[in-house]
Order: sequence, then C-alpha cells, then structure tokens
Amino acid sequence: MRFSIAAFVGAFSMALFVPSVLACERECQVNVSHAFADKYQLLSDNYFTRLNFEVEKSLFYGIPADALTLTEKQAVTKTVADSVLAAQTSWSNTIFQTVFDTIFKDEPKFKGDCNHPHRVNQPPRGVNWTMPDCHNMDYICGNPPSICHFMPMIKTRIVKKLIGQLQARVDGDDSEVYLNFVGPALQDVLTTQVKLANYAATLHGNLNQILESIKASLINFANENEWKPEWDMEIKILLLTFP
Ligand SMILES: *[C@@H]1O[C@H](CO)[C@@H](O)[C@H](O)[C@H]1NC(C)=O
Ligand SMILES: *[C@@H]1O[C@H](CO)[C@@H](O)[C@H](O)[C@H]1NC(C)=O
Repeated sequence: MRFSIAAFVGAFSMALFVPSVLACERECQVNVSHAFADKYQLLSDNYFTRLNFEVEKSLFYGIPADALTLTEKQAVTKTVADSVLAAQTSWSNTIFQTVFDTIFKDEPKFKGDCNHPHRVNQPPRGVNWTMPDCHNMDYICGNPPSICHFMPMIKTRIVKKLIGQLQARVDGDDSEVYLNFVGPALQDVLTTQVKLANYAATLHGNLNQILESIKASLINFANENEWKPEWDMEIKILLLTFP
C-alpha cells in the first residue's frame, strides 16, 4: 500500500514537472486564424476596389455618350457600385472561416500532440514563444510554433482556396457576385432609368466583361507583388504570443 502510494505520488509529480507542450485551443485557433485572415481581407479588398473602378470606367462602353446626362450616369454607376460594396461585405464574411478550416480542419491539420518527439519547451504563462521555437518545431502539430514553422505551406493552402472561391464568385451570370449583387443592381437600373431600355444587352455584356477581367486578374492574388514581405514577420510575432 505504502509502495503504491509512493508510486502514485511519484507518477503524479512526474506529470507535473516533466515539461509538456500545450496545444493551441479554440481561442488560440480563432486568434491565429484572424492573424492570417486580416491580411487576406486587405488583399481581397483591392480586387473589389478594382471591380468598382472598372465599373466606373467601362459600364457605359458602347452606349452613346449623350444617352444619359452626367447626373444620370452617376446615379447608375452608384447603384452598381453599391452592389459591389455589398458583394465585398458578403465575401469578407467568409474569409475567416475559410482560413480557420484550412489550418485546423484540412489535412494535414495543425492539431494534436507536439510532445512526441519533444522539440520546444512551453514558455510560462505570459511569456512568448521564440523564433528559435518556430525554427525547431519541425513537424505538423497543434501549437503556435508549428504553425509558425509551416507558414509558407499554410499560406499556399489558404491562397489556393481563396483564389478558387473568389474566381467562382465572379465567374459569369450564375456566380454569387452577379446573381446576388450586380445583376439585381442592373435590373434596378433598367427599371428606373427608361432611357437605358435599348441598352440592356450592352450593359449586361459590359458587366460580364468586367467580371471576366477581375476573374483573370485573380491569378495574382496574394502573390509576391501583393503579399508584403513584412507581413510574414508580423504574423509570426503575433502567433508566438499565443500560449
Ligand atoms: C485572442 O485575442 C483576444 C482579442 O485580441 C485576446 O483578448 C485574447 O487574449 C487572445 N487569446 C489568446 C489565447 O491569445
Ligand atoms: C510578447 O510579444 C508581444 C508582441 O511582440 C509583445 O508586445 C510582448 O511584450 C511580448 N511579451 C513578453 C512577455 O515579452
């Protein structure tokens, strides 16, 4: 009896004092996902800004200059631009979940045991992980240094998904952006601005061309020209603050 109590106490204190590494739990996962998602949000905003710019530039292409007054044109452009803004908000609401799923649900997921083999020591509460931890945590598991170590791979995974989703959103008449936002705005314009009745096909064609050009430009999404080099370090520093 005495022996087994001693063994128990021994095992218990071993468990207490052998340093073990905690996993990134739900709150940490949320914060990590935000660290990435915030950057991709900035980049995708640029594409919606470009979409807006293209609408202003090319919506009336092929329509006689005197078909509408300047004020009328501005009203039409504004209706479409507002729909682009709504489409942007709708898209933005999806980025976080996509990033979260890519890191923590898609295989190989950044979850699970980081103690076998042992690579890094869990810092005390309130102390950050270090860049050497990021370097040393060289297999995929559920702690922030592992996510930090595999950041290039994580970015590739996220970007691939986001490009696919964004391209699908602007891909023709049955795409999300057209069907739910730009298309109804065009319908609105045609109902309220009778002078455009003869130009419905032209406007529709112009909008399709604009969406097509945005879709094509998306192959550059988050490439080395768009992703700011300092963002990697910003995200890493943030990652390493999570327990
Ligand atoms: C997550 O972020 C929130 C808000 O910035 C912060 O209050 C919280 O402490 C963070 N949680 C972790 C686990 O780092
Ligand atoms: C942890 O890192 C953050 C971000 O760089 C910094 O603001 C904070 O002071 C660091 N905390 C400690 C205890 O060093």
